[in-house]
Parts: sequence; structure tokens; C-alpha cells
Amino acid sequence: MERSLVLVKPDGVQRGLVGEVIARLEKRGLRLVGARFLLVSKALAEEHYAIHKGKPFYDGLIAYITSAPVMAMVWEGPKAIAAIRQTMGATRPWEAAPGTVRHDFALEVGRNITHASDSPENGEAEAALWFKPEELVSWSREVDKWIFE
Ligand code: RTP
Ligand code: MG
Repeated sequence: MERSLVLVKPDGVQRGLVGEVIARLEKRGLRLVGARFLLVSKALAEEHYAIHKGKPFYDGLIAYITSAPVMAMVWEGPKAIAAIRQTMGATRPWEAAPGTVRHDFALEVGRNITHASDSPENGEAEAALWFKPEELVSWSREVDKWIFE
């Protein structure tokens, strides 16, 4: 079982796409572990995007993610990292496959609606960065046996 942080970024929230993103992840069979609606502090943004510090788009990225509320969530499931990134689509929306969130709702890389963790290790680290341990819920669903082999 893998865990991923998923953010509906400010553009997705402003455009009313929180429910759309949640619906796609729920219908895929992934399990919600935690959720928080928040304004992201500069400190949290800088820690979350530390790997991009120094890149040309970094300042714009920090301004974007702190500009308005985001919906932060943790989702889990088998192969959740790859599955969620597939559902979101390629970082650059014009390269995203039809049917993905970024294909269906975005045009620009700097307004690409969502974030998803890129490895199981980063999924755990990002979940711990954005959530306190007691905010993450361990639970099971009756339907799990029909989704998880
Ligand atoms: P994410 O972290 O948001 O799930 O997306 P990702 O792994 O596919 O992309 P990453 O390389 O981690 O970039 C993080 C976010 O930075 C913005 N970005 N802008 N202008 C640019 O060239 C550029 N490159 C990246 C995007 O918002 C991207 O999601
Ligand atoms: Mg990334």
C-alpha cells in the first residue's frame, strides 16, 4: 500500500474543481486518509517545494501555491503513486493524456490544478509535512476486498 499527498492547488479550488478531483480518486478506488483546507504559509510552501529552489519558475511557484486556499489530502492504495499521477496527467497540461485532470481542465504548467507525490518515499514525507499523525485516519472499507486484490 502506498500513500500520496494530493493538493488541489489554488487554481483548482477557485475553479470549483475540488469535488471533481476527489470524485475521480474515489471512483478509481483509492482510499482517503486525511484532508485539510488551508491557506499555505510561505514556510510550508518553501519546504514542500525545496527541491525546486533556484529554478527559474520557483518564485512564481511559491507565489501561486500561497495565493489562495488549497485542498490538501492524503490518498492510499496499491501502486497509489503511479495511479494518482496517471489520473492527474503529465505536469505540462498540453502533454497530458486525454481524460486526465490536467488534460481536461488545464492549459499551463503554472496553473495545472493539482500536485501528487512522485515516489512512495516522498508520499510518506509529504504526508508527514502537511499533516499531524492524528489527522491521518487508518480505516478499511467493506468494498476494499473488491478493489484491493
Ligand atoms: P507536482 O509536483 O505538482 O505533482 O507536479 P510534477 O511532479 O509533475 O512537477 P514538478 O516537476 O514537481 O513541478 C512542480 C510544479 O511546479 C510547477 N512547474 N512549473 N514553469 C515551469 O517550467 C514549471 N515546471 C514546473 C508546476 O505547477 C508543477 O506542478
Ligand atoms: Mg513534483
